[in-house]
Amino acid sequence: MIYVEILAGGKGTRMGNTDMPKQFLMLGTKPIIIHTVEQFLINNKISKIIVCCPKDWISHMNDLIKKYIPNSDIDIVCGGSSRNETIINGCKHIKEKYGINDDDVIVTHDAVRPFITQRIIDENIEALSECDAVDTVIPATDTIVESRDSGYVSNIPNRSYFMQGQTPQSFNIKKLIKYYMNLTEEQKNILTDACKIFILNGDKVKIINGETYNIKITTMHDLKIANSILMERGKK
Ligand code: CTP
Repeated sequence: MIYVEILAGGKGTRMGNTDMPKQFLMLGTKPIIIHTVEQFLINNKISKIIVCCPKDWISHMNDLIKKYIPNSDIDIVCGGSSRNETIINGCKHIKEKYGINDDDVIVTHDAVRPFITQRIIDENIEALSECDAVDTVIPATDTIVESRDSGYVSNIPNRSYFMQGQTPQSFNIKKLIKYYMNLTEEQKNILTDACKIFILNGDKVKIINGETYNIKITTMHDLKIANSILMERGKK
């Protein structure tokens, strides 16, 4: 089975003073998270979509689904205290409700990346037949500058080796749970990227090309850019 987990458990603090987490803010005529979920709903390879959002916003999420995508069959689960905890909460939900087979996989995607494409979703799914972990990236365009000592440059590495991570990140579910459960609390605090957990365990992580417009809406400025992308496409 191919599951999708929409990661919407964050509070969006970098967005500034908004009366709701950024994933629920309007983009054109519908909330950001609805744009995102719709892209997975139209992909016929996916068996089940699970949205993980903050506990206090579960009922709001339910209302949004009823209003914007009423005939969809989506599970809503409580998010976690960190992004990885949110991912694991979704996996635990799958385990409890559906059971997990050895070849079951999960495509995890930030709720606040509404411009995900069918090509990126399909390539993530295809790559999972080759590898147990998949990451979506774009080449780094700016020069990467490393600083390890308060305000001074320690290194300017060769940019061609560096990429910027996007989502989806996709995993074999059994392996992800196993690896995560073996981490100490200290490791959990450091390993904020789920793909890194696979790398540390010696697993290969396959790379899929993202798109520059597959942006993560983090600040109000990003929301303005997202609105411009939508307008340029003539969509609402
Ligand atoms: N996320 C999540 N659970 C968390 C934290 C983040 O599911 N405990 C999700 C967010 O909802 C978002 C995605 O991970 O869709 C990317 O994270 P980020 O942009 O950092 O979101 P926030 O944590 O909400 O933002 P901020 O750091 O500004 O508070």
